[in-house]
Amino acid sequence: MSLRIQEVPAAEAPLELLLLADPSEEKIRSYLPESRCFVASRGAVVVGACVVQPRGAGAHELMSIAVLPEHQKSGYGTALLRWVVDLYRRAGARQLEVGTGTFGYQLAFYQRQGFRVTSIDRDFFVRSYPEPIFENGIQLFDMLRLTLRYPGNVA
Ligand SMILES: CC(C)(COP(=O)(O)OP(=O)(O)OC[C@H]1O[C@@H](n2cnc3c(N)ncnc32)[C@H](O)[C@@H]1OP(=O)(O)O)[C@@H](O)C(=O)NCCC(=O)NCCS
Repeated sequence: MSLRIQEVPAAEAPLELLLLADPSEEKIRSYLPESRCFVASRGAVVVGACVVQPRGAGAHELMSIAVLPEHQKSGYGTALLRWVVDLYRRAGARQLEVGTGTFGYQLAFYQRQGFRVTSIDRDFFVRSYPEPIFENGIQLFDMLRLTLRYPGNVA
């Protein structure tokens, strides 16, 4: 069965999927109204979702991307990310940004598509969430900001 990727109204964004990428429902609900939401489906099942918010001057931020745990490592996340990267390239965007932790497979996931580390926000995860966040038993403290620049597209 093939993967179908499409944009849906932000009000229809699959929250349970987005919570896999960001544990704060409050945060997700705060950025959704200003964002665009893209979903990847196999048949009737939404297996992945991605949310992007405009940042001004041709910059856009990938706020969240997630694939259902039972469908991870099947290439859907990469297909969805590539689709979104291409959409914004064709739309003339200057750059796409994303914030992520300082370790883990997600770093390779983004860099494989051309994202490069542009800055570090120290203690972001401590400042932004009421509870400590752990991944693979390691506490997340700092956020890396990665940027994909679209050469040829100017704001
Ligand atoms: C990040 C995510 C969207 C990637 O989607 P995906 O469909 O699993 O990705 P792909 O199948 O295209 O795989 C991309 C790479 O990530 C790796 N990967 C995916 N899930 C993984 C996991 N849980 N643990 C370790 N590696 C993983 C894959 O093995 C693959 O690497 P490889 O090519 O070297 O084998 C998905 O794993 C996810 O929803 N994670 C939880 C939420 C999250 O962390 N979102 C990003 C927030 S910054």
